Amino acid sequence: MSAPHSEFRRPWPPPPLPRPSESPFLLLSFSSSDCTDSYFIRRVHFVSGELHLALSEFRQLMHAETIYIYMLILLHKFSPSLPCLLRIEAPKNPIITRRNFPAQITHSLPPHKVELFKSLESWAEDNVLPHLKPVEKCWQPQDFLPDPSSEGFYEQVRELRARSKELPDDYLVCLVGDMITEEALPTYQSVFNTFDGVRDETGATATSWARWSRAWTAEEKRHGDLLNKYLYLTGRVDMKQIEKTIQYLIGSGMDAQTENNPYLGFIYTSFQERATFISHGNTARLAKQHGDLKLAQICGIIASDEKRHEKAYTKVMEKIFEIDPNGALLAFADLMKKKITMPAHFMFDGRDERIFQHYSALAQRLGVYTANDYADILEFLVARWKIGDLTGLSGEGNKAQDFVCSLGPKVRRIEERARARAKEGSTMSFCWIFDRKVQR
Ligand SMILES: [Fe+2]
Ligand SMILES: [Fe+2]
Repeated sequence: MSAPHSEFRRPWPPPPLPRPSESPFLLLSFSSSDCTDSYFIRRVHFVSGELHLALSEFRQLMHAETIYIYMLILLHKFSPSLPCLLRIEAPKNPIITRRNFPAQITHSLPPHKVELFKSLESWAEDNVLPHLKPVEKCWQPQDFLPDPSSEGFYEQVRELRARSKELPDDYLVCLVGDMITEEALPTYQSVFNTFDGVRDETGATATSWARWSRAWTAEEKRHGDLLNKYLYLTGRVDMKQIEKTIQYLIGSGMDAQTENNPYLGFIYTSFQERATFISHGNTARLAKQHGDLKLAQICGIIASDEKRHEKAYTKVMEKIFEIDPNGALLAFADLMKKKITMPAHFMFDGRDERIFQHYSALAQRLGVYTANDYADILEFLVARWKIGDLTGLSGEGNKAQDFVCSLGPKVRRIEERARARAKEGSTMSFCWIFDRKVQR
């Protein structure tokens, strides 16, 4: 754990501290707009007369920390003689640190609205379950992989390896990141089963919601399996490092901020299924460009599953918007204000605390998944649920409507500014590809 410490410090040059005449919000705006993630205060202490804020990395700035930083800046403002030094410390044990989350909101949907999902049980049977494919009609990973029982197995593996030789390292890193995200499937099933009113209470509950949860998971399982086996056979990636990253990620879980609330849950899954449809579609397009048509077919077939799942989840929310437009809209605005967290945001390879940011930056540069895609998905959902046409809303509902309808262009503007600031030309190594360097 010695190397990660310096790696951890490198991305953050010490921020300019506000001078007494400047706004105390200077530091906060630095945290939220100039960094891809924010920071969590672990400790405040005095060292040789200097005030140290020891921060560990977290993916969002919690309300309590915002107030804390604000108070300390005020203290600095009124006591300019007291030097305030910001210092980043690597968490001693990332898994344990990440479990020490500040209070999370739970069970935010009132019981009568949870009942709504129970009353939609037969509607889900007729409208959601048909989006699953019968197992006998589903593709399986083996359909796209060398057949180990056939005489030609070694030859098929040789062909696969020859094809994959042409894949550039940065593309491989993206594909590995996508595969690791898929492989953390146990987390996603757990998260689905946190949603009040639709969870699988026993592991074999007979409700249509619970049957969807299990069968959806079973369909998703094929994605990680196929990508994992394909990448293994290429011989181009460090499987042990990848396997460690998967173990860390499942151990860390995820914080989708869905509050056990199925409104937030189904908006989140609608967003994420479309995001994965887009990213797998783009890895398919790039595989084709690099001449690996088999891999293009694999990424394409996975993308088509994600599209089908997106249809199911957006249909559930369409129904909720029909029954409770105001409540659904408030949930949509709430989730977009909090920003959609990516499922693998706690990714860690045992060395690089910022590996998720590095993988995401690469995905952005290669056009696999970009901030523009985020804006596109948001605008797609606004149109899909006809948000602009909703009427009879409360005052709060009207504000939420204005917020989500005008958010897309704002996201794009932030993205343009970030791109203008991005430094090009630097390289970094990924343990997933034996520490080979790729351009960031
Ligand atoms: Fe998937
Ligand atoms: Fe999916």
